[in-house]
Amino acid sequence: MLTHKHLLGLEGYPREDLETILTTAFNFREILDRPIKKVPSLQGKTVVNLFFENSTRTRISFELAQKRLSADTVNFSASTSSLKKGESFKDTAQNIEAMKIDAVVMRHPDPGAPLHLTHHIDAVVINAGDGTHEHPTQAILDMMSLKEKFGYLEGLRVGILGDIAHSRVALSNIFGLKTMGADVMVCGPPTLIPPRLTELGVEVTYAVDELLDWADAVNVLRIQMERMGIGYFPSIREYRARFGITMERMARLKKELVIMHPGPMNRGTEIDSVIADSDQAIILDQVLNGVASRMAILFLLLGGNPENEGHES
Ligand code: CP
Repeated sequence: MLTHKHLLGLEGYPREDLETILTTAFNFREILDRPIKKVPSLQGKTVVNLFFENSTRTRISFELAQKRLSADTVNFSASTSSLKKGESFKDTAQNIEAMKIDAVVMRHPDPGAPLHLTHHIDAVVINAGDGTHEHPTQAILDMMSLKEKFGYLEGLRVGILGDIAHSRVALSNIFGLKTMGADVMVCGPPTLIPPRLTELGVEVTYAVDELLDWADAVNVLRIQMERMGIGYFPSIREYRARFGITMERMARLKKELVIMHPGPMNRGTEIDSVIADSDQAIILDQVLNGVASRMAILFLLLGGNPENEGHES
């Protein structure tokens, strides 16, 4: 049902396919409100969750999505595998596939690792975040949450704030949102905004108040200390003062801006707790929509027909 066999990233991903995923995700979202949140759509399919990097939301969300669709799921954690005994990535992948699986959901610290995996196995590969490259399912759940809140994406003004340089969430959101016709502005310290970003069709500002005045919604990114080898800004205190979504900054706005965050949050650094926990934040809606989005992606990539879905009990 989708143009591509795998979901590796949203760069060049067809708009029609994004629309199919979003429509299917809204159908599955309805199932999540039922007393029995399970449909037999992927009965007999087996999905391996291959995580080489820590995760809370993405991993649980994918596992729940698989269970809601009645797929068999297996979780693999690099830290407890034979990789620790020196087994190669290729041998690990080929041994897992020899057990007759249908799809692999993979998170890896190296950009391009899911693409590399497609060269070694026949199963469908879904990128659950590869280093600083892409996190396509996060961008899809973000777009679903925006569509749920506003009813449209075409012409919506979406700000992305923070550590753009190290953010796979930012890159996938830029590709997805631009394809869907949204306007995107990014903001952060100059050291955390890659040069030539404007070539992707986004506006850049280094003034957070300009971003907040312009945007309908702002996706606030985590400051990724673990990916920063050197200091990109003088101190956390200065970052919060210049770029933080603080109570004072939000109180100055003359509109109720929608606030998003992919998680995990550094409360008190990029966002104040009072804003993260307020009604204008849709952060937990994003988490719920993550399950529905991933159900849609798994279902469509594993051969489901969206016209038959959402009606089973
Ligand atoms: N948003 C996100 O990818 O969160 P996790 O790292 O917890 O999966």
